[in-house]
Amino acid sequence: MAEQTYDYDVLVIGAGPGGYVAAIRAAQLGLKTACAESRETLGGTCLNVGCIPSKAMLHASELYDHAANGMMAKMGIEVTPKLNLEAMHGQRREAVKGLTGGIEFLFKKNKVDWKKGHASFIDAHRVKIGETTVTAKNVVIATGSSVASLPGIEIDNANHVVVDSTGALELPAVPQQLVVIGGGVIGLELGSVWRRLGARVTCVEYLDEILPGMDGDIRKEARKIFKKQGIEFKLSTKVTGLAVNGKTATLTMEPAAGGAAETLEADCVLVSIGRKPNTEGLNLEAIGLAVNARGQIEADHDFRTSVPGVWAIGDVIPGPMLAHKAEDEGIAVAENIAGHTGIVNHAVIPSVVYTWPEIAGVGLTEEQAKEGGPIKVGKFPMMANSRAKTNHEGDGLVKVIADAETDRVLGVWAIAVPAGTMIAEAALAMEFGATSEDIAYTCHAHPTHSEALKEAAMGVQGKPIHV
Ligand code: FAD
Ligand code: NAI
Repeated sequence: MAEQTYDYDVLVIGAGPGGYVAAIRAAQLGLKTACAESRETLGGTCLNVGCIPSKAMLHASELYDHAANGMMAKMGIEVTPKLNLEAMHGQRREAVKGLTGGIEFLFKKNKVDWKKGHASFIDAHRVKIGETTVTAKNVVIATGSSVASLPGIEIDNANHVVVDSTGALELPAVPQQLVVIGGGVIGLELGSVWRRLGARVTCVEYLDEILPGMDGDIRKEARKIFKKQGIEFKLSTKVTGLAVNGKTATLTMEPAAGGAAETLEADCVLVSIGRKPNTEGLNLEAIGLAVNARGQIEADHDFRTSVPGVWAIGDVIPGPMLAHKAEDEGIAVAENIAGHTGIVNHAVIPSVVYTWPEIAGVGLTEEQAKEGGPIKVGKFPMMANSRAKTNHEGDGLVKVIADAETDRVLGVWAIAVPAGTMIAEAALAMEFGATSEDIAYTCHAHPTHSEALKEAAMGVQGKPIHV
């Protein structure tokens, strides 16, 4: 029987960090590849409305904050900053334009065909994209995620009063009172941006602590630092209603466990209570692919779904919703399709909150590690790190969690100005199965913030030098 022919070896649906990386790697491996994207530009959530624009606003607002709030004056630089918000937005838009354009260039260079339009399955090997139909031997679903909404609360980014993360990146003026619903990554990053530029910020969190999923010590310490910076927290509190009258929102809240209601007025409310996988409109029914209770597509170790020839990666499958996790899965799925061995070690995926200082972690939290047996923990305060102290960056700590018997590192957590960069060393060490002693006896350059990681590792054996 003649082998069936297809337009493409691989069709990737979605051009976010999962999809565009999968498409480029598949093409590099000699597979004829196309990528469908319904957005006007490539790069997905991350490049268009996520990682990149948020970091552009975080970086710019951090510089403003240093000038406005005495940090620069501490170092003998006396300035009175003047905010040009339109110019700040301009440099954000430029960053996005440059990077999304860069993906278009990479597609051309690697001969990936960009199919513009919304994709939906006709069957497992035929996909309708806009008005055209494309056939492919393998289809990779990399459709990502979008904002989860709160029942009864309508997001209207154009009105700038009740916004999601996309709207919060585009505010035309600094709000007087910003209420952030959800003390997760988005709430703290974008709450920090507008706090630095002059807004009063109140964060309403349903749980009894911010940053769920992170190490307990780190969550507590992070909240103390944000509080010192001026963010107010209402923990164990649920929003039960929101009324908008012109440019004013009135929130009704009550204790999560029940109790007396209170109200809070704000000229801007950011809803940041999580994200949900994008599967609507894919016509998964046509290929008999069901989603799980959380709306995600289940994929196996190789990123195969239950439908032969259909694969899935990134935010649309279980796991942390992070760009680098999606990218690594993109590389692995392409390698598996090409007959190589693509693997992602989901136990070693760092996560970073890009505030000032940054908050980062990899591996198990202390709470999770304890469940597996006896552990040892080493901690080192940034205040005792010479570089951090010299730079007036003494807030935070580094924490190393190791197996008490084997000394193997199980998790590393850090609050430090460059914690996002420092955590890469911990991830590499864990990927190689390092012990805390391996880190402690690795020579670290002086004076660097990274010495705090070495000292925390020395602390696991109870022998730090500088504290
Ligand atoms: P996405 O990036 O969501 O891309 C999916 C693409 O598929 C989209 O462009 C969408 O238009 C397209 N699509 C969907 N359905 C279809 C269809 N049927 N047909 C055609 N196209 C379709 N992560 C980090 O690691 N670091 C950060 O600093 C960070 N910051 C963030 C800040 C914000 C404000 C937000 C919202 C997210 C942030 N994230 C960050 C998360 C990160 O953006 C996501 O984890 C990442 O983008 C997921 O990649 P993905 O490829 O799975 O999906
Ligand atoms: P999140 O899951 O990080 O935090 C949501 C928070 O809202 C949680 O603390 C949760 O307890 C709380 N919450 C849920 N329902 C609530 C309610 N009704 N009232 C009050 N609080 C409520 O989600 P977030 O911040 O929206 O971010 C979405 C995803 O985007 C995250 O999973 C994250 O991985 C990704 N992201 C990553 C970034 C990074 O890596 N630096 C930056 C921004 C987003």
